Amino acid sequence: MIIDILYLVAAVCFIFALRGLSSPKSAFYGNCCGIAGIVLACIATYISLDISNIVLTLVAVAIGAGIGTYIAGNVSMTALPQLVAGFHSLVGLAAVLVAFAAYFAPGSFHLNEIYGICKSSLIEMGLGAAIGAVTFSGAMVAFFKLEGLYKGTLIPAYVNALLLSLLMCVLTYFVTTNSSTAFVVLAIFSFLFGITLIAPIGGADMPVIVSMLNSYSGWAATGIGFTLHSDLLIITGAIVGTSGAILSYIMCKSMNRSLLNVILANGQYGIAAESTDALAKSKSYKNGSAEDIAFLIKNAESVIIVPGYGMATSQAQHALKEMGDVLKKEGRKVRYAIHPVAGRMPGHMNVLLAEANVPYEDVFELDEINRDFASCDVAYVIGANDVTNPAAKYDSSSSIYGMQILEVEKAKTVVFLKRSMGAGYAGVDNELFYAPNTMMLLGDAKKTTEEVIKALQNI
Ligand code: TAP
Repeated sequence: MIIDILYLVAAVCFIFALRGLSSPKSAFYGNCCGIAGIVLACIATYISLDISNIVLTLVAVAIGAGIGTYIAGNVSMTALPQLVAGFHSLVGLAAVLVAFAAYFAPGSFHLNEIYGICKSSLIEMGLGAAIGAVTFSGAMVAFFKLEGLYKGTLIPAYVNALLLSLLMCVLTYFVTTNSSTAFVVLAIFSFLFGITLIAPIGGADMPVIVSMLNSYSGWAATGIGFTLHSDLLIITGAIVGTSGAILSYIMCKSMNRSLLNVILANGQYGIAAESTDALAKSKSYKNGSAEDIAFLIKNAESVIIVPGYGMATSQAQHALKEMGDVLKKEGRKVRYAIHPVAGRMPGHMNVLLAEANVPYEDVFELDEINRDFASCDVAYVIGANDVTNPAAKYDSSSSIYGMQILEVEKAKTVVFLKRSMGAGYAGVDNELFYAPNTMMLLGDAKKTTEEVIKALQNI
């Protein structure tokens, strides 16, 4: 009874943790709830199990916690996606190992050994092992790609379709015959499928894939939770499974793409349109200097800064914060507008701005700030492109058509800081670069922003 109550409280803590993590302001509180939930779950598990060597188990937990604390304390903000991918691979591996342990030692898991393992348990084990193996190998491939250690391989879609069909056949055979060979083959096929599924996906699409694998790892845990009769594992797995699926959906929707399009794009999304670069070079645009931009923002009442992927690659967030502070001291209204898919991972811009100590109250989501562009003097777009492209609103032939954008074109003046007139992630030319109220400042975003700060101080 007490154990059930502890598990229930732990599950509620996990739900509050997710709620808290949905906003930077409540993230600390959310994290505390998550930690409390894990501690309660561990205590309940220790009480419920007949562990013969408690010291050895505690040593294993201490080693794991030590490694986790060290990694979390030393990881850079920009390396978070690969860290998450690495952790998902461990969840997948754990699911496979538990499924194997339960299958080959059913007595230890209170499964009926005398009359054989029942069909429903075979289904749970089969699904747990298959999803776990896909998650493990897929997340490892994602980790290597995000670390830049592996570029990827083009694999035709029919190979994956074939492997998936084979996988389903072996799973059915395993459940109907209870063959241990089929169980091993199922795990091997699933492991291979994880590799061939993720290997062709483009590096920039990896955040969607990591979120999808997060969802898989949750469902693998749920499958194993049924096998182990663990309510907590079932609840936690379902929370992780659904939240990962919802996050993948939100990311795809914000990019105006389907999950199938991400999986089947073979890393080719945006590449076909790169010829726009040549087209862009033939059009005329207003090229400004750091002094011009400094003059514009110093004389503006209100400035909205729009950061994007280029701010992340140039690590311009600290210079940007310094520029914002200089303007605020001069009495200017400075705000930061964040598009849900700016950069290359969820919350990418929020994390970088938080790292530079930009106050939360100055940072606004798309829906909160979009209507304010019309009354703002300067939109300072730093390393962002697709998330400001008006073609998304009216050009039905464009790959970003339908994606919500930050309406910077409504500002009195738009300033773009980027290195060239080239396209962004979607490979689409941005007509705004050539608009009469736009000024381009070409160069590395950190370097040019530092030049703007210097010019601001000299005016
Ligand atoms: P992009 O449209 O990719 O534009 C970034 C711009 O930054 C590029 O045009 C590039 O132009 C410039 N840039 C790159 N390095 C720079 C540097 N060192 N200094 C200055 N500028 C630099 O980025 P965005 O506007 O942030 O939009 C994000 C895109 O990524 C969307 O299409 C979104 O769908 C996609 N995406 C997002 C996510 C998530 S979850 N955030 C996940 C996958 C894909 P130059 O080369 O000319 O400098």
